[in-house]
Amino acid sequence: MNMKLLIALSLGVSVAATSAMASTVDPETDRQQLVDFFKAKNPKISFEAYANGAYIYSDELMAQWESAEEFPPYLDSIDAGEAAWNKDKAVFEKCFGSDLTKIRPKYPLFDEATQQVVTLEGAINKCRTDAGLEAYKWKKGTIAQVSGFLAYSSRGEKINVVALSEGAKKAYNEGRDFYLTPRGQLGLSCAKCHTYNSGRLARADMLSPQLGHTSHFPVFRAKWQELGTLHRRYGGCNQNMRATPFKAQSEEYRNLEFFQAYISNGMEINGPGYRK
Ligand code: HEC
Repeated sequence: MNMKLLIALSLGVSVAATSAMASTVDPETDRQQLVDFFKAKNPKISFEAYANGAYIYSDELMAQWESAEEFPPYLDSIDAGEAAWNKDKAVFEKCFGSDLTKIRPKYPLFDEATQQVVTLEGAINKCRTDAGLEAYKWKKGTIAQVSGFLAYSSRGEKINVVALSEGAKKAYNEGRDFYLTPRGQLGLSCAKCHTYNSGRLARADMLSPQLGHTSHFPVFRAKWQELGTLHRRYGGCNQNMRATPFKAQSEEYRNLEFFQAYISNGMEINGPGYRK
């Protein structure tokens, strides 16, 4: 992290991040305020456009990205995900049904029985282990391929996370607190980069907006040369903050995903995505 970024970051920070912490907010009011915040910040960018991440802030980056998406490098991974799905189809269909367009949009969800957030990847592995199959490894490989296949099958469906119960509101607030809390040696919060400084450069990287962060996962990153899950990305950003990452599918990351997906409600699912 260079000094310029640190200075830029400290300039752009608002006190809202700290003063809002540890209070309990109503998810829907909070989501609307956030959508309004981004609208005020960039009046010309439509809500739907946020599904395209940092590319929305630069015509040049957008053009590069669109040409990469013409022959997207993730197509083989989608095929591999489909093959893995078909191999254990009977098991998967028992858990998820057979309409492939409807599976991705159901997650993340708040499960009232366990009072926990369930992610798509978590549900895939629970389905497997309940049926006596081996769980896939988290973060990359087959789990990301199956997740990518399901995302691809539901492209165009909308994110629609429900947070009406007390438990779901608590999970939302915990995810939100995680997002706003400064951590690591640099005292950075997710919000510093992805809310207050989104659209600005951090070294060579344009900072993406938090709206739409979940729409296109799993992601094929040029850096990884493969698909990776959202929690893999969370781990990477935690490391960049010089803060110890949590485990994929930890309660912290599941609640964070719940919060991030909820604020993107109404946006189209466009996974898997391609990113730098
Ligand atoms: C120092 C600034 C910084 C901080 C703090 C930071 N990130 Fe990031 N993050 C980046 C950069 C740079 C990228 C790559 C460019 C982009 O997409 O924003 C990125 C990418 C991401 C992406 C992928 C976006 C996409 O379009 O695929 C997600 C999701 C994400 N960050 C979440 C988080 C979360 C959650 C936190 C807090 C735990 C966090 N980040 C903290 C800099 C940061």
